[in-house]
Amino acid sequence: MKLVNLWISLILYIFSGQEYFKTSLSVLVDTKAVLTCPPVLWPSVLVVAWEIALRDKPPCFGAYRRDTNQTTRGNCTDKRITWASRPDENPALQVDPVAITHDGNYTCQIVTSDGNFYHEYHLQVLVPPEVTLVQTEKGTAVCKAASGKPAAQISWTPEGDCVTEQEPYWGDGTVTVQSTCRWGGRHVLNVSCSVSHLAGNKSLSIELDKGVRTLGFPGSDLLIILCVKFSLLLVILVFVGFIHFQRTNDCR
Ligand SMILES: *[C@@H]1O[C@H](CO)[C@@H](O)[C@H](O)[C@H]1NC(C)=O
Ligand SMILES: *[C@@H]1O[C@H](CO)[C@@H](O)[C@H](O)[C@H]1NC(C)=O
Ligand SMILES: *[C@@H]1O[C@H](CO)[C@@H](O)[C@H](O)[C@H]1NC(C)=O
Ligand SMILES: *[C@@H]1O[C@H](CO)[C@@H](O)[C@H](O)[C@H]1NC(C)=O
Ligand SMILES: *[C@@H]1O[C@H](CO)[C@@H](O)[C@H](O)[C@H]1NC(C)=O
Repeated sequence: MKLVNLWISLILYIFSGQEYFKTSLSVLVDTKAVLTCPPVLWPSVLVVAWEIALRDKPPCFGAYRRDTNQTTRGNCTDKRITWASRPDENPALQVDPVAITHDGNYTCQIVTSDGNFYHEYHLQVLVPPEVTLVQTEKGTAVCKAASGKPAAQISWTPEGDCVTEQEPYWGDGTVTVQSTCRWGGRHVLNVSCSVSHLAGNKSLSIELDKGVRTLGFPGSDLLIILCVKFSLLLVILVFVGFIHFQRTNDCR
């Protein structure tokens, strides 16, 4: 079971013979997740029922009855959601492989002779973003965290003049985040982009061209100075060459 993160809350409510556990669970896409039921004394168990409520879908139910040793898939048709093992031994649920559509609430309810026990999981499926860092024209760098779930955060070292855009892909809940930065005026050579995401952080660095690509970019003081210097050099070279030519001719 590869759980990237098991976090936030494990809240236990006890009231009138009922116990309620809640867990928020983040699971990496394409891995296997196992959801366990509340720990109870097995001989007291009458019925174990799972309720699965996925986003934008009606809930479905599956159950195990201990006295008759019967299991029902009920109306849960997703073949990737099954019992983790034999329900007469352990009524845990398994999602394998986890898909992006498995976001939702999964509740194990155990009815025993001592009361009811619940464990509700809020399952969040994580998709790691694809991270790229490129230099575009004019000493500008673009860092992109594509198709991540949830949206990634992008930060830069050193900080520049940045514009960050988020572009959700409505089909599957993934988000592409793109940050475009400029370091105008300052002579920054190396910049790095850090992408933080629940599925893991990533950092990429790039060495920016030092103004060589700023040709044709209006308003560049450096360029004007370079042009003037270069023209002067050319004039001097031509002049010197001319004089040398004349002298060589004179010497004949
Ligand atoms: C899961 O439960 C939370 C809180 O109980 C609720 O806000 C959310 O809408 C539920 N999600 C689904 C898919 O039913
Ligand atoms: C499963 O059955 C329950 C209760 O009969 C119903 O409310 C729910 O909509 C059904 N779910 C699906 C996916 O058909
Ligand atoms: C329950 O049924 C399964 C087969 O469906 C069987 O392998 C298992 O031994 C039975 N368990 C009990 C406790 O009767
Ligand atoms: C930039 O990074 C490269 C390696 O990535 C390193 O060799 C170089 O020294 C760095 N330059 C500066 C100015 O930090
Ligand atoms: C990722 O970065 C964030 C902040 O940028 C930090 O809080 C978090 O602990 C990091 N996670 C990992 C797995 O390193």
